[in-house]
Amino acid sequence: MNILLIGSGGREHALARSLSASALCQRLFIAPGNPGTARHGANVTLDVTDHRAVIDFCRVMAIGFVVVGPEAPLVAGLVDDLTAAGIKAFGPSKAAAQLEGSKAFTKDLCAECGIPTAAYRRFTDAEAAKTYIRNYGVPTVVKADGLAAGKGVVVAMSFEEAEAAIDMMIGGGLGAAGAEVVIEAFLEGEEASFFALCDGAKAIPFGTAQDHKRVFDGDEGPNTGGMGAYSPAAVLTPELQARVMHEIIEPTLKGMAARGTPYKGILYAGLMLTKDGPKLIEYNARLGDPETQVLLPRLTSDLVEALLAACDGKLDTVSLTWSDKAALTVVMAANGYPGAVEKGSEIRGLDKAGALDDVIVFHAGTKQDADRIVANGGRVLNVTGLGRTITEAQAKAYEAVSQVDWPEGFCRRDIGWRALERERG
Ligand code: AMP
Ligand code: GLY
Repeated sequence: MNILLIGSGGREHALARSLSASALCQRLFIAPGNPGTARHGANVTLDVTDHRAVIDFCRVMAIGFVVVGPEAPLVAGLVDDLTAAGIKAFGPSKAAAQLEGSKAFTKDLCAECGIPTAAYRRFTDAEAAKTYIRNYGVPTVVKADGLAAGKGVVVAMSFEEAEAAIDMMIGGGLGAAGAEVVIEAFLEGEEASFFALCDGAKAIPFGTAQDHKRVFDGDEGPNTGGMGAYSPAAVLTPELQARVMHEIIEPTLKGMAARGTPYKGILYAGLMLTKDGPKLIEYNARLGDPETQVLLPRLTSDLVEALLAACDGKLDTVSLTWSDKAALTVVMAANGYPGAVEKGSEIRGLDKAGALDDVIVFHAGTKQDADRIVANGGRVLNVTGLGRTITEAQAKAYEAVSQVDWPEGFCRRDIGWRALERERG
């Protein structure tokens, strides 16, 4: 069948690579894609916020399956509109994507279904929120209800910080996303990510990962979209993964089905591993970026078959297989990220880096400029290495990074440090 993939980042390069490797995939189109996805299919210019245009494209190109990468089109209801037009599409409906689109929605579902998460209250009134924090104390966590591109969470160590966050969010600093805030208890523990493939009724594990959100070595500096990741996350032992499935993922699917909004797609659970067990920090309604760049290179079974089965409510017919190898990805970002960056600097050495064994160089924010590849965003490349251990995968990734000639970019030098410490014992 012909497949259309929506998105343009490193996650979509990794998806394009795995989708195009499937025997079920005839032609692959990516809208809008990037120079990396162009190696696996045809990039097309399509306004993905114009659902009618996407549907028309699918009809003209005889697209049998649409895979949506990022959250915005999911929350905007692209899957609903495609489905209504008779086009099979992977990802949750608009109503089900609320699990990512509204923190208040997810917290209420957790409360209703007994899913372990931080205690919380919802507020639309700034004074009421501040009074609540004065009574309950700090540290506390202030979250904008809606999608805020990574700026919607403030872990406040002092009343002043908490109050400033409340004023900023309810005062309109994040637009409509902050009109309501969730105030929640501060959780202590190690963070890890757990992915599940869901068909509305059933879920199967889709791998584990850990990432590094801070921009500088030693997990210092401002938060980013992620400076690197690795999979598997050994801290999520088989026992803990079974608990996550039984205590968090399965009750969520049951609750969503009971509400008449069954969840189909990838459910990405951000977890805090507390001394009382795993607790849900947040859900994403899609694969992670850069987590996909370490998950999919380890998947040895057919991705298209698995996503189609999830779409058709037939996950009981699928068993996923994974490589024994570990994967680690290093994000190369433009100097200045996560602040303002300059676009257009040339990146050399990509072929040399990509030619190394057990290395995949994913494009995230690049652009083809005649015969040159140039930087076109903040997070620009994701250099993934594979190895028998995270330690080996890290060595591979940094060996490849050293082949990339790009003075206008930088990367962290310590991606995976926690896992390396664990492997050293
Ligand atoms: P989120 O966007 O909800 O994943 O939050 C971003 C980051 O804020 C998380 O990765 C955590 O590091 C931190 N965070 C969110 N909620 C809590 C919490 N209740 N307790 C401690 N840290 C949190
Ligand atoms: N890496 C975090 C995310 O995809 O949301």
